[in-house]
Amino acid sequence: MVRLISMEQTTDRNLNPRGPMKPLCIGGVELRSRVIPAPMCNVSDRAYRGLARRMGADLVFTQMISSEGLTRNDEGTRRILDIEGEEPPVAVQMLGSNPQVLAKAAQILEAEGAAIIDLNMGCPARKVTGNDCGSALMRNPTLVAEIVRTISKAIKVPFTVKMRAGWNDKDISAIELARICEGEGAQAVSLHGRTREQGYKGEADWSLIARMKETLTVPVIGNGDVTSPADAVRMIRETGCDGVMIGRGLIGNPWLQRACEAAMQDYQEGRIADESAVPGDDLVEIENDDGLATIRVPYYMREVSIDERLNLIIEHTKMMVESKGEHRGVMEMRKHSQQYIKGIPGGKTLRQKLMKVEKFEDIGALLAEYRDYLAQRGAQQRAHSLEMERLTAAGE
Ligand SMILES: Cc1cc2nc3c(=O)[nH]c(=O)nc-3n(C[C@H](O)[C@H](O)[C@H](O)COP(=O)(O)O)c2cc1C
Repeated sequence: MVRLISMEQTTDRNLNPRGPMKPLCIGGVELRSRVIPAPMCNVSDRAYRGLARRMGADLVFTQMISSEGLTRNDEGTRRILDIEGEEPPVAVQMLGSNPQVLAKAAQILEAEGAAIIDLNMGCPARKVTGNDCGSALMRNPTLVAEIVRTISKAIKVPFTVKMRAGWNDKDISAIELARICEGEGAQAVSLHGRTREQGYKGEADWSLIARMKETLTVPVIGNGDVTSPADAVRMIRETGCDGVMIGRGLIGNPWLQRACEAAMQDYQEGRIADESAVPGDDLVEIENDDGLATIRVPYYMREVSIDERLNLIIEHTKMMVESKGEHRGVMEMRKHSQQYIKGIPGGKTLRQKLMKVEKFEDIGALLAEYRDYLAQRGAQQRAHSLEMERLTAAGE
């Protein structure tokens, strides 16, 4: 049903122990993991953060939260925040451009249990930059200095910033701005190495992360285009950054979190020389209802059973339904579940069916049906193998 065709080979040369991995410490907050799930709108909700923790994440981010909405006690903003009673440490990311409003919002967040408060200086969306927020702040260093100073003075928990490379390729301001932020009290900087103009196109420039690491004394978190454990190792090797932040690569693939952590530890502790020693993808032949397909599956998924994936769909949806209600929870499950079932036999049909489900209980029923289908195919295959053995023994 599923056949491994090839595995990428790895090399193991020039081992050079760099010593045990030190914990990442932001302000006074010591973190057990250096792999940090990135803040993502409509993704990094409470359920997502919970699953990321289970896969080994320590610091988790909320998506950006409007400082104006928070200070007005806006109901929608409060619903998005949703950190009450959550296992710490949670970093809450704020959006805004008014220093006083941001400082007030930071105090509210501190009182509500945020372990770290972060400022969004990277969002490229027009409706955000049009209000001088997100990446538009990168064009106004004087305002950034005032914002960071005001917030840092207003709270006791660490304050951090997340930025892009700059506005466009003619205005690469990240290094200068990071220096200003550190000078005014920021305790860490995350850098997504793309400009605002790039959006999500092209490649993230990791050389900027390396330059920022050389410039600052506070931790630098590298971000952009890490989609495999080998990428994570390459990022720390090339840039020396203190932590690796992953966005899109983790959507529907929470297993990437612990695989990156393990590979980074192997590198740090000298068990592998560089990213070339990290396995790549397996080429796997799977049987779908319309025939055989060859697909690439990351090596770390060898240890993840189909059962674990199916259970995660149920559990993730249940968590979303609990925090957002049945309709939204089930609709939002769709974008995650597509990845959860990537590379399983009959996955194409299951995917199509999952896209139509509207009720939580229907997901359970659908997955039970899929389990029956797997069992039946397993039985058919076993019967086929026995028949082949019988025929071979009979010399037919
Ligand atoms: C759907 C989506 C929503 C995002 N929302 C936020 C956000 O709320 N705050 C933020 O700082 N960055 C946000 N980002 C940017 C990511 O945090 C990250 O910087 C970017 O995706 C690059 O990392 P990646 O290549 O690992 O995905 C978002 C990205 C995506 C794809």
